[in-house]
Amino acid sequence: MASLNQAVRREAASCTATAEQPRAPRHVALIMDGNGRWAHARGLRRLEGHSRGVDTVREILRASPELGVEYLTLYAFSTENWRRPKNEVDGLMNLFRYYIRREADQLDKDGVQVRFIGDSSRLAPDLQCEMAALVERTRENRRLVVAIAINYGGRAEIVDAARRLAEQAARGEIEAGEIDEAALTGALSAPDIPDPDLVIRTSGEQRLSNFLLWQSAYSELMFVPEPWPDFTADAFRRAIARFAGRDRRYGAVAG
Ligand code: FPP
Repeated sequence: MASLNQAVRREAASCTATAEQPRAPRHVALIMDGNGRWAHARGLRRLEGHSRGVDTVREILRASPELGVEYLTLYAFSTENWRRPKNEVDGLMNLFRYYIRREADQLDKDGVQVRFIGDSSRLAPDLQCEMAALVERTRENRRLVVAIAINYGGRAEIVDAARRLAEQAARGEIEAGEIDEAALTGALSAPDIPDPDLVIRTSGEQRLSNFLLWQSAYSELMFVPEPWPDFTADAFRRAIARFAGRDRRYGAVAG
């Protein structure tokens, strides 16, 4: 009996230790909003805001591994962003080009695996080539996985997945009755990346704007006031500390 009590005490102590560990979100998805307002408030062009946003991307990537974050997804350009003025769209595409060319060596050296989600077929062919080359070059890296969403829309991604499954069913490769949540998840653009634990949107707006609609079903949502160019590694650290205090129940009752 004594040994059973000791075992129970040991177990309880180990549970307490685990409960006291700050819980890091394994996957953080970021809606990088507020570049335009940041620029406007300083009398700058909107593109200057996006350009400062690239500095923030660099800072957040650098901070992530030490905070225990293993996956980051960055919402860089939505399927709706084509509606912006041509010079802003062109400027953003040039920024992506510049980022890939300038940062490829450092990303690789830092052990970052870069992925892209979204429909790249509408992007300029040279940009598509640079994206594919960066994905190939960083494929084996494991320190941090960064998925960059360009020409991405959550609804479009779900429609594509549904179409892929319907085509497989039409070819007789799967039964319609076999299509379940796991099958749909498997048909999305990055099925090996776990669902985001935390979705952060900067700049005070409180909506998902068609980002990771399927994957964020049980994500914690956090809306922070800073515009993206002002979102520092410290602000990121604070958001992660707040996440650690959230009670994630996945539909169950509080324990
Ligand atoms: C939304 O802010 C931001 C975007 C549409 C672009 C985000 C892109 C970057 C930060 C560039 C770098 C990305 C990578 C991955 C290299 P907004 O301009 O709509 O802000 P507003 O609501 O204040 O106008």
